Amino acid sequence: MKPKVNTVLVTGGSSGIGAATALLLAEKGMKVYAASRSGRAPEKEGIIPIVMDVNDPDSVRKALDGILSREASLDALVSCAGNGVGGDIETSSDEEVKYQFETNFFGLDKVVRACLPHFRGQGRGRIVTISSVAGFFPIPYQAYYSASKAAVLLYTKALRLEVRPFGLQCSCILPGDVKTGFTSARKMTAASDDPSSPYHDQVAKSIAKMAKDEQNGMPPKVIARAVLRQLRRRRMRTVCVPRFGYKALYVLGNILPESIIQRILSILYQ
Ligand SMILES: NC(=O)c1ccc[n+]([C@@H]2O[C@H](COP(=O)([O-])OP(=O)(O)OC[C@H]3O[C@@H](n4cnc5c(N)ncnc54)[C@H](OP(=O)(O)O)[C@@H]3O)[C@@H](O)[C@H]2O)c1
Repeated sequence: MKPKVNTVLVTGGSSGIGAATALLLAEKGMKVYAASRSGRAPEKEGIIPIVMDVNDPDSVRKALDGILSREASLDALVSCAGNGVGGDIETSSDEEVKYQFETNFFGLDKVVRACLPHFRGQGRGRIVTISSVAGFFPIPYQAYYSASKAAVLLYTKALRLEVRPFGLQCSCILPGDVKTGFTSARKMTAASDDPSSPYHDQVAKSIAKMAKDEQNGMPPKVIARAVLRQLRRRRMRTVCVPRFGYKALYVLGNILPESIIQRILSILYQ
């Protein structure tokens, strides 16, 4: 029997993967609360835009209370809100490092923890987190982005074990390059952006390559379809890597010696 998923909260619903997910789920007849700081969302019947800053506990609480006061139940959370910081490790400031983890990891965790009592209380609930292939392969000059996404991956795996006894399920999706507003929203660390930095040229070259790959990447609806598949599966997959090429890389990454992986990454990004 297919799981019943009628009402879904999608964070990061104003743009890119979150917006595409909101659209697709609404197309399939689900009621979607699309949350973001701007409160923008694709205009479509079934999509309700809401304001939520995942880094502000009051904002998360208020948004969730608003949903639960209107709905008999919330069936799923799709956590897409995120951003990227480019720069080398040595010259990054504490603030820049914290900024990267704030939304991608601590923000995601805040929303998950806010939803769990409701999901546990109703004995069902589905959580999809968006990590990245960069959470599996370490990307130089985006080390904090990679680390924040690796944290999301392991967190989701551990969460899955913790909540299974209560009838809840989780899945972590690892997208490769996706053409979204993520590229233009990426912030560079101040020091690495300074031409006198010893890392300046490497960082600039590496981030330019990444930006180009992203803008030539797959459309966000590919990831939206992967989210939909997980929400509909009787048993959600622990990890899901959309598109054959990225899936193959993920499988190889689990088999190849680290020395070869490091060699390939240095050719690609240094
Ligand atoms: N694009 C890629 O190549 C790629 C690859 C792998 C993984 N990902 C991951 O996919 C997720 C979605 O990224 P995207 O590519 O769709 O980027 P995007 O187009 O820039 O969308 C990011 C979304 O996050 C929201 N957001 C940012 N900070 C927020 C906060 N504090 N509170 C609430 N919402 C916040 C933004 O809305 P507001 O600005 O209105 O708040 C926006 O809706 C991210 O986690 C990203 O790391 C992207």
